[in-house]
Amino acid sequence: MPRLLVNIDHVATLRNARRETFPDPVEAALACEAAGADGVVFHLREDRRHITDDDVRRLKAAVSTKLDFELSMAEEIVQIALATRPHLVTLVPERREEVTTEGGLDVTAHADRLRALVPRFYDAGIEEVALFVDPVSDHIAAAAAVGANAVELHTGDYANARTDEARAAVLARLAAAAEQAHGLGLRVHAGHGLDYENLGAFFAAVPHVHEVSIGFALVARALFVGLPEAVGAMAALVHDAYGR
Ligand code: PXP
Repeated sequence: MPRLLVNIDHVATLRNARRETFPDPVEAALACEAAGADGVVFHLREDRRHITDDDVRRLKAAVSTKLDFELSMAEEIVQIALATRPHLVTLVPERREEVTTEGGLDVTAHADRLRALVPRFYDAGIEEVALFVDPVSDHIAAAAAVGANAVELHTGDYANARTDEARAAVLARLAAAAEQAHGLGLRVHAGHGLDYENLGAFFAAVPHVHEVSIGFALVARALFVGLPEAVGAMAALVHDAYGR
């Protein structure tokens, strides 16, 4: 059964927009868990535009399901992740001027750096190390070669596809990437732009997906129906995706 991990960065974005103490991403994380989420994701960005160091400490103390710490390869953030010891770290590329993460990691270009970095997480007691990658064969192979035990497939191109033809093409790439990753013994995660409408076709086409990381669509829906209902509906879609 695939798992739903909820990204709560957008709750912090809203809080920070007013330089307030609420809404609290930790309170949101607990509400997500109570509503059926299998885990919580946050991205500690170098510019701290949403999640703060204090949020990280409080999330670590409060979250009792799976905690996914998303980060770039910046040493300062790596040190915080090592000290936090979440269940999972997901390495992503990061550019200061981007609105959100724009593409997968260039694993082949950064292979030497990643080969040195990945074991440091395991040595700190972190069980899972995922690399956020585009569905490109070379990057999947390189992810296994540098020692990661999971990949998060970037689904942004799928979410942004505007024609049936484009959607089918990107789903075929994602399915091939999932098969390859699974064959290499990597856990398959997926995320970016997944929503209530596009999730069904995604799971129908892409096998072996162990968990999805979803933030924006879910938090946007929660404005109208509340977090428990938004999470509950998404969790049902994810949990039933491959049939029970
Ligand atoms: N996975 C990764 C690696 C991300 O950077 C993001 C965006 O923060 C997500 C998943 C979630 O994407 P969305 O907010 O579009 O659901």
